[in-house]
Amino acid sequence: MLSQRCATAIAHSNIALIKYWGKQPRPGNFPAVPSLSLTLDGLFTRTKVEFDASLDEDELWLDEKQVTGAQLDRVKRLLDSVRESASLELRARVGSANNFPTASGLASSASGFAALALAATHAAGLNWPTHAVSALARASSASAARSLFGGWVALDKDANAAEPVFPENAWDVALVIAVTDKGPKAIGSTEGMNRCSQTSSVYPTWLEQGPLLFNQARRALEQWDLPALGQAMEASTWLMHATMLAAQPALVYLAPATLEIIKTVREQRSAGLPAYFTTDAGPHVKVLTLASHAKQVCDLLRGLRGVNEVIVCRPGPDARIESTTAQGGPA
Ligand code: DP6
Repeated sequence: MLSQRCATAIAHSNIALIKYWGKQPRPGNFPAVPSLSLTLDGLFTRTKVEFDASLDEDELWLDEKQVTGAQLDRVKRLLDSVRESASLELRARVGSANNFPTASGLASSASGFAALALAATHAAGLNWPTHAVSALARASSASAARSLFGGWVALDKDANAAEPVFPENAWDVALVIAVTDKGPKAIGSTEGMNRCSQTSSVYPTWLEQGPLLFNQARRALEQWDLPALGQAMEASTWLMHATMLAAQPALVYLAPATLEIIKTVREQRSAGLPAYFTTDAGPHVKVLTLASHAKQVCDLLRGLRGVNEVIVCRPGPDARIESTTAQGGPA
């Protein structure tokens, strides 16, 4: 009987071009709209899961600090589902760290739950295909389903798992992230989505438009048409924020610096720069451009008021296992 089994996984963060925002009314965390994302090379989470007979309770360590409460409960739910599938009783120690400063506000649950799902299934001895790991991650955080795959990734409305669309080397683009000053206190995605579905008068329009914007973006991607892709991406971004702003009380993730950056991107685009923006449930701005223009976009953003840091990302790879070990002994 094994008394300790351990796996370490790496998953890269992803940014949605066509946004997931809203859940199906039934339980299970199924998305209400389709989304399309790009996995990023620059930002990743490394997570180690050790099922250990000496533990009485699951433990969570984030950046070497022990975490309890709601964050631990969310991790426990994923571990419970893995234990059930593997007929395993052992409790686990989970250690997770981002290669980017957590304080920057970029720490998304996407890379975290993708790395956790991959490490936990491997540590439990489950040799699942990637789509099954993606479905496990999706149940915890739907954007995490996409981080199992590299490159361009789709998560359909109501889907169980994400699907790879094009690999990381398919198109020479860059996503340049302008990390801004801290914006207003963030409301978590899950709570924000629930508020929108319950109170936002724009939410029905969002549900109706989501699939149309997704199809528009997929067609643009198939033709490597950056202006068409950028147009769909910006339309999805604005409509998501319109839905948020119409919630009661309003969800305002856009800070003054966010709008300043967007204004500059739009002006520079009119002057010929191939650059398109998106933002998520926070004040930072992500700019999609051709790799050949990444430096120009980076220099532009760096010079703007309210921008603390600029991170240039290229398309990133699939999530992967770094190591696994198993030790025998009395269980
Ligand atoms: C704005 O995946 O964090 O980043 O499923 O409730 O965990 P939960 O939500 P989450 O939402 C991400 C929302 C978004 C857009 C996106 O990534 O598609």
